[in-house]
Amino acid sequence: MSKTDNVKGYGNNSINWYPGHMAKAKRMMQESIKLIDVVVEILDARIPQSSKNPDIDELAKGKYRVLLLNKSDMADPEKTAIWKKYYEDKGFFVSIVNSKTGAGVKSTTEIIQKACQEKLERDRKKGILARPLRAMIAGIPNSGKSTFINSFAGKACTKTGNKPGVTIGKQWIRINKDVELLDTPGILWPKFEDPQTGLYIAFIGSINDDILFPEDMAYELIKILMKEYPGVLKERYGIELEKSGETKVAVDSDSGDGENDNIPENADTKFSALEILEMIGKKRGCLKKGAEIDLLKTSKLLIDDFRTQKLGKITLEMP
Ligand code: G4P
Repeated sequence: MSKTDNVKGYGNNSINWYPGHMAKAKRMMQESIKLIDVVVEILDARIPQSSKNPDIDELAKGKYRVLLLNKSDMADPEKTAIWKKYYEDKGFFVSIVNSKTGAGVKSTTEIIQKACQEKLERDRKKGILARPLRAMIAGIPNSGKSTFINSFAGKACTKTGNKPGVTIGKQWIRINKDVELLDTPGILWPKFEDPQTGLYIAFIGSINDDILFPEDMAYELIKILMKEYPGVLKERYGIELEKSGETKVAVDSDSGDGENDNIPENADTKFSALEILEMIGKKRGCLKKGAEIDLLKTSKLLIDDFRTQKLGKITLEMP
């Protein structure tokens, strides 16, 4: 059994993060989809695959699709560009945004119009007066939906209330003369078909930390960083990690198998993830009584440093 299999839900698809809300949100989105021209899905640019909910593909069948790579300020710009092209090649209209500062947010109107070009032309030919395009915002928790909507709608936004023939209680937000947003909870249940998905979603803070095992997360994060961003840990924590001599196999203090602590072979280090975590703990003075390294505290520090961008602009996965 690998270490991640031990983590609640990582290996068995059992992470429960919004059990009650899921069915309700899904029902509401299913009910509303017929009113919608375009589904705008907000992804976290640090995990553009794991933050993309496969349920939305089913829900949004036959609708125009826009993907927003949000939190672009926290992600690796070169990798974000690769992801943009990847999704464009798959037929999505993609925009890179930072909802916090508003960078790229205003041009969402343009990308929505581009995505709906075919419908706009069809209506024009039929002499139908263009009504605002209707968009639904979707995205996993913490992807930045509220921040995006606030930034996109700005102060000028007006809730237009119920429309004739539309289920009572639905709120439309008029962004401008061209676009209206349907205000939905926008939360759907991601299926963690790949255990890695749960882990990546945990890294970005979309799962309640109380149900996670920080040490397991830290080992995984160290492995990714050593492979993809080899200089980062050395630079941040002042630890020496260069490869010289044989790669060691760590003994895992929890399970005793040590299997999952091994850094990928191509990473430039001889140390295991556990050893690297210990080095970080030592440097940062995360110690228990008797000078034993407090691995839990060290893990939380590392994860927090990732989430608060102290490790730099990092993208955890590639197409
Ligand atoms: P949600 O509705 O999808 O659940 O997400 P929400 O907008 O609440 O955003 C979750 C967190 O992500 C917030 O941080 C928000 O500020 C941050 N965020 C959203 N978009 C961006 C972005 O493009 N760049 C960066 N750097 N951060 C973004 P928070 O710490 O929970 O709240 P706050 O202290 O910022 O208010």
